[in-house]
Amino acid sequence: MQDDRLISSSLQEEDAKNEYSIRPHFLSEYIGQESVKEHMQIYIAAAKARGESLDHALLYGPPGLGKTTLAGIIANEMGVSLRVTSGPAITHAGDLAALLTNLSPGDVLFIDEIHRLNPNVEEVLYPAMEDFALDIIIGKGPGARSIRLDLPRFTLIGATTRLGMLSSPLRDRFGIKEQLELYSPESLKEIVTRSAEILHIDIDEEGALEIASRSRGTPRIANRLLRRVRDYSQVRGNGVIDLETAQGALGMLKIDELGLDAVDRKMLTAMIETFRGGPVGLDTIAAYTGEDAGTVEDVYEPYLLKLGFIARTTRGRVVLPDAYRHLDYPVPVTVQQERLEV
Ligand SMILES: Nc1ncnc2c1ncn2[C@@H]1O[C@H](COP(=O)(O)OP(=O)(O)O)[C@@H](O)[C@H]1O
Ligand SMILES: [Mg+2]
Repeated sequence: MQDDRLISSSLQEEDAKNEYSIRPHFLSEYIGQESVKEHMQIYIAAAKARGESLDHALLYGPPGLGKTTLAGIIANEMGVSLRVTSGPAITHAGDLAALLTNLSPGDVLFIDEIHRLNPNVEEVLYPAMEDFALDIIIGKGPGARSIRLDLPRFTLIGATTRLGMLSSPLRDRFGIKEQLELYSPESLKEIVTRSAEILHIDIDEEGALEIASRSRGTPRIANRLLRRVRDYSQVRGNGVIDLETAQGALGMLKIDELGLDAVDRKMLTAMIETFRGGPVGLDTIAAYTGEDAGTVEDVYEPYLLKLGFIARTTRGRVVLPDAYRHLDYPVPVTVQQERLEV
């Protein structure tokens, strides 16, 4: 279901077409995430000055914020090759062994969705990360013996939307851990402007800010909305994206001023009307939205939490006063008082 939502932050087929041209290739083109950028700049410069490979790095945060992009940038800045794979793609320990033995010194191996690694594969990864060695069992039964194979000093970059699902031995083996945050509208405006320039789309500042403000803090969504608004401006306008065309297009797509879509509004309305503002359990919310609980938690909630529309409590999610106001509901007195304690 979520893949059909315009505000879905997961990669859709259409995104992939433009992906290569608009994806930043160097740190200087990577907009926002100032502290992550500053840290990476230092680690990269230091590793290069020592002539060493970069420490293993774990990048985490909601989908669409630039984890894959950053992995590519790190490889570029280090001047090494990037190998890309994902947790679910490595089904056997042998697959991982094949990947690792084919790396050159310094290379970056990027494992997306690293929380979905099979435990047998993870076992092989530990000595590879720590000692740059592979323990291989040869033969079966009593005659089996283990040999140790040396690997080049490589850099593992893992990406995950769910830090909590990573086993702690795996997490501990990353020397660098960076959390990507939702972007501010100002940063997203820069991203929209940059993408528009690359794609030869005419857009003014107000148009760019309008798209940015409705993109849920997520570059992938911003780039997607830019394309939708461009279509609209070509057909209904004069091809230039200004405030009016941006508002018209996004209104037509039922994405409101804050970037909420019909599913978000349905979910909040149900929480307000049926559950009197909560607490509502995550599974109940998931059932109302037609998404699975993990998706609600990792993909849709972070933005609502950031807006201060909902809060997580031990008994479930509660609706906060700003959400009532946004949806034109009076804020119940009990909510005003209770929520001060959340
Ligand atoms: N900091 C950034 N500056 C400019 N564009 C970005 C930035 N981060 C992400 N993007 C754009 O957003 C899209 C999604 O980024 P991606 O790295 O695929 O996200 P993730 O791997 O976290 O899901 C990419 O196409 C990229 O062009
Ligand atoms: Mg990615």
